[in-house]
Formats: sequence, C-alpha cells, structure tokens
Amino acid sequence: MESATIIPQKHIFVCCNDRGTEKACCMNVQGMEFFRELKQFVAEQGLIGKVFVTKTGCLGYCSDEGSNLVLYPENKWYIHVKPEDLKKIKEDILKGL
Ligand code: FES
Repeated sequence: MESATIIPQKHIFVCCNDRGTEKACCMNVQGMEFFRELKQFVAEQGLIGKVFVTKTGCLGYCSDEGSNLVLYPENKWYIHVKPEDLKKIKEDILKGL
C-alpha cells in the first residue's frame, strides 16, 4: 500500500446511477451531463488536482425530479438538482480555494 500523493481540497460526487429501467435514477435526470459539465468546469478553472469530480452510484435520493450530488469537505448535499442549479454548485466549489 502507498500513500496518496495528490490530495484534493474538494471532492464532488455526482450520482450517475443507471438502473437500466424506467425506475427513477440519476442517469435518467442528467446525472452524466452534470458530471461532464463539472469536470469541464474544474478543468477550465485550472483546478485539476485540487478538485476531484467523481461519478458515484446511488446516493439514496432517487427521483424523477433531478440528480443528486454531494460536495466534500463541506458535506453539502444537493438533492434533485436541475440544470439551473449548477451555477450555485460551481460557486460552492470555488468557495475557499
Ligand atoms: S440513483 Fe442517484 S440517488 Fe439514487
């Protein structure tokens, strides 16, 4: 086992769970699109290595209303996120960096 050499200051997990059915899941409500947009945002801001954006499985808030994300170290949960909510999430990512 080795110790990590790159430790992010922030880490946002984006649910991209795909149930493969019509049952509510974040893949059906733009989870993957949000993941890609936040990855691009982090790169554009020059924050690669400081901010990790990671796809994750179910976070337990599945809905047809929107996808779910969580930002650490804030432990801030974003539930039923819609495209218009990404501006606020991006602001939160930048806070304190
Ligand atoms: S499928 Fe994303 S929270 Fe359950």
